[in-house]
Amino acid sequence: MTSEFKKQLLIIAHAPSENTRLLRDAAFSGASHPDLEQVNYVVKAPLEAGPEDVLACDAILLGTTENLGYMSGALKDFFDRSYYPVLEKKQGLPCALYIRAGHDGTGTQRAVESIVTGLRWRWVQPPLILRGEWQPSFVDQVEELSMTLAFSVESGIA
Ligand SMILES: Cc1cc2nc3c(=O)[nH]c(=O)nc-3n(C[C@H](O)[C@H](O)[C@H](O)COP(=O)(O)O)c2cc1C
Repeated sequence: MTSEFKKQLLIIAHAPSENTRLLRDAAFSGASHPDLEQVNYVVKAPLEAGPEDVLACDAILLGTTENLGYMSGALKDFFDRSYYPVLEKKQGLPCALYIRAGHDGTGTQRAVESIVTGLRWRWVQPPLILRGEWQPSFVDQVEELSMTLAFSVESGIA
């Protein structure tokens, strides 16, 4: 099957620490499940991603830390640059979110939900908050989230 017919999953992951890099790796590991034959994925840091990436994708997975009660500045910058260029063209885009938060995460969840509501994107899964002390199971949770999003897009459920 040629790749032009495949669905494209865009993973935008802010990964400033060893743990968050493990989460980013888990996101693309989930999206590269061997049974996923019709999904390509692209992984980008928020500062490298822009509206052209969103326009080219069929689903989006966002990953951020919570810093000072909000999403990372890098992810906010991505939204600032991408919001209006994609607003009219990507309504209904299937999306998912994971947040790595040392102790809370709710401020980030609210902020991203509000932007996603404005964009009229569609949650395939509820936002995932990985809160508190680091746990190795966070990696599995992100892998599963990414895999679920990818399978949903492949099967046309999303
Ligand atoms: C400047 C700064 C501000 C932070 N603010 C918050 C915060 O408001 N809420 C929270 O849950 N965690 C906060 N954290 C913790 C980070 O979310 C956490 O360290 C980050 O996700 C990386 O996770 P790791 O330590 O497992 O690598 C903050 C960390 C830093 C460095």
